[in-house]
Amino acid sequence: MKQKETIILGIESSCDDTSAAILKGTAILSNVIAGQKVHQEYGGVVPELASRAHLQNIIPVVESAIKKAGITKENIDVIAFTKGPGLLGSLIVGTSFAKTFALAMDIPLVDVNHMYGHILAHFIDDENKPKPKFPFLCLTVSGGHTQIVVVNGYLDMELVGTTIDDAAGEAFDKAAKMLGFPYPGGPLIDRYAKNGDASKFKFAKPRVGGYNFSFSGLKTSILYYLQKQEKLNPNFIEENRDDLCASIQKTIVDILLKQLFEVAKDLDIKEVAIAGGVSANSELRSRLKEIGQSKQIATYIPRFEYCTDNAAMIAITGKFMHEKGLIADQSVSAKARIKF
Ligand code: KG4
Ligand code: ZN
Repeated sequence: MKQKETIILGIESSCDDTSAAILKGTAILSNVIAGQKVHQEYGGVVPELASRAHLQNIIPVVESAIKKAGITKENIDVIAFTKGPGLLGSLIVGTSFAKTFALAMDIPLVDVNHMYGHILAHFIDDENKPKPKFPFLCLTVSGGHTQIVVVNGYLDMELVGTTIDDAAGEAFDKAAKMLGFPYPGGPLIDRYAKNGDASKFKFAKPRVGGYNFSFSGLKTSILYYLQKQEKLNPNFIEENRDDLCASIQKTIVDILLKQLFEVAKDLDIKEVAIAGGVSANSELRSRLKEIGQSKQIATYIPRFEYCTDNAAMIAITGKFMHEKGLIADQSVSAKARIKF
C-alpha cells in the first residue's frame, strides 16, 4: 500500500515578507507571500513596522495558503517555521504562531534555519528541472547574506566563504538608493541594466582573504564617483541611469561568480547552484549558465518564486528535518543570529 504523503505547513517571517506554504511530499500545493510596501519610503526595512505588519498578515496568509491548497487545517501533519537568522521582532511573530498552531493541533513542530531553506528550495518538485547532486556548491545571495556553502547532503552543509561587511543584496540596494530608487532597488537595477552598457563605468572590486567577499569598498567607490560627476553635471545620474545600472550590476556579478568558480575549481566540485533573493538577478542567472557551460560544470537556478523569501523553502527543509526526527518542543525561541 502506498504510504500517505506528509502534509507540511511552512511559515516564513524573517524579514519583510509574511509567507505560508503547504507542501505534500515534495510538491508545493500553495505558497502565499504578503510583501510589505510600508518600508519603501524609508529606503530600507524598519524592524518595528515589519513586526506589526507580520502580526496583521500572518493569519490571513495562513488561511489563504490552506484554502489555495484545497485542504483543511486538520489535514496538516507537521508545521515548520523560520527560527532565524533575521529580524528578531519579525521572527517572533512566525515562531509564536507556529508554536501555538502545533500545540492546538497536536502536531510536530520543526524549527528551520532560513539559510538552509534558501538552498533546499532546489529540491521542491519541478517537472522540468533537474535537482543538484551532492556534493554541490551553493552561492546564497540575499539582502542579509552572501555565502558559499558546500552541500554534502540535505542537512550536511559547510560554510566556506562569507561577506566580511555588506551582503550582495545590500550592495544592490545601497547603490540603487544612491541612484534615487525606492527600496528594495535590486530588481530596479536589474530592469534598467537591460538597456545599458555595462562597460561604460568601472568600479572597485575589493578582494579579501580566503573565499570571503567584501562589498563596502564598492559602495564607497560608487558613492565618490557619483558625487564627483554630479558636481560637474547635476543631471549625471538621470542621463546615465541605464549604463550606471548595467555597470554596477556587472561589477557585483563579476565579484560573485569569480569567487564561486574559483572555489569550485579548488574543491573540484562539478555542480554549482545559486539561491536567495539576488539569484533572481537576470545577469547573475545568465552568466552563471554561460560560465558553467564553458567549464563543463552543471548549474542550477531556482524558480523565481523560490529565490526571494518564501515559505515553500521552509516547508521543504522542514520535511527533511522531520524525516530525520529533528523536532523542536515548546521551549524553542526565535534567534536573530544562528551560527551556520
Ligand atoms: O532572500 P531575500 O528575499 O531576503 C533576504 O533574506 O534578505 O533577498 C532580498 C534581496 C534584496 O536585497 C533585493 O534587492 C535582492 O534580493 N533582489 C535582487 C533582485 N531581486 C531581488 N537583486 C538584484 N536583482 C534582482 N533581480
Ligand atoms: Zn532570505
